[in-house]
Amino acid sequence: MKNILQRLIYAFGPSGKEEEIRSVLKEELAVTGLQLKTDALGNLIATKPGQGGRLMLAAHMDEIGLLVTHIDDKGFLRFAPIGGQDPRNLLGSRVVFADGTMGTIGAETIKEAKDLKIDKLFLDIGAATSAQAEEIVQIGSPAVFAPHFSHQGDRIIGKSLDNRAGCALLLAVIRDLPPVDYHLDFVFTVQEEVGLRGARTAAYHLHPDLALAVDVTRTGDTPESPPMAVELGKGPAIKIKDTSLISHPRVRDLLKETAHSRGIPFQLEVLARGGTDAGSIHLSREGVPSGVISIPTRYVHSPAEVIDYRDLTNAASLLSAFMQQEQLFPDL
Ligand code: CO
Ligand code: ZN
Repeated sequence: MKNILQRLIYAFGPSGKEEEIRSVLKEELAVTGLQLKTDALGNLIATKPGQGGRLMLAAHMDEIGLLVTHIDDKGFLRFAPIGGQDPRNLLGSRVVFADGTMGTIGAETIKEAKDLKIDKLFLDIGAATSAQAEEIVQIGSPAVFAPHFSHQGDRIIGKSLDNRAGCALLLAVIRDLPPVDYHLDFVFTVQEEVGLRGARTAAYHLHPDLALAVDVTRTGDTPESPPMAVELGKGPAIKIKDTSLISHPRVRDLLKETAHSRGIPFQLEVLARGGTDAGSIHLSREGVPSGVISIPTRYVHSPAEVIDYRDLTNAASLLSAFMQQEQLFPDL
């Protein structure tokens, strides 16, 4: 899974411009024999047709980024965030555009830390004039954090582990697909970071009876972090609640039972702020019982997020075991 994860991290894919990450995922999926389809918004759907129930498994493929809004006479760029960006993470970071153009983020004079806002920051792409800059970028050109991946002990440090870790997890489960008869749709969604958008139309189209999202969640295990009962290395987290979803009790309990009975370590997650694709999916049509398997992640939405590799492999085991549960579709 590590090599695939690294490959996914190096693929460009801010919300709204997912072509490159989608084509990498398509390549990885081509050998699996699943039916592949890209829908109108760009969601990549990998289907194994079947009878007796419909399960949707979603991981968003987009990542946070920024978008050029203005180019000044000296060639400096101003930008707007794509998704949840913290100016403290942006200052001093390097970003990359789709064509590989690098930029570094500087700031106007800032006297107090609280004055550090996105509109005080600018992007330097090495241009000396607006004309030079315009040869390289345009208004609306998106950029992402410069890719990074390293593996140290059990820990992985990387850009966009949110949610390339979730994508790698789904790919791992697909590669070692459990023998099930029901209908299965794996969806690599677009535009999650700007409002769970791709998942909304994909869920409408696929009309699942049950859904799980796979995404990252925060932890409470770093110095003076806000209290949160999730730690790196203690297993995947089974979501109870976030701001987009209260996990369906049947799905939540079945995940817990599955982890218990298989001896897979797990944690329970209540995320004070944030959401996942399940937030959109569960409100689709007449409602879809939904839950989330979360990968504990430090420094979410920074250029250097950290996960524990064992949590990722345990999450794959949990998902695979869950898919083989007999009580997935009790009403059908
Ligand atoms: Co995110
Ligand atoms: Zn995410």
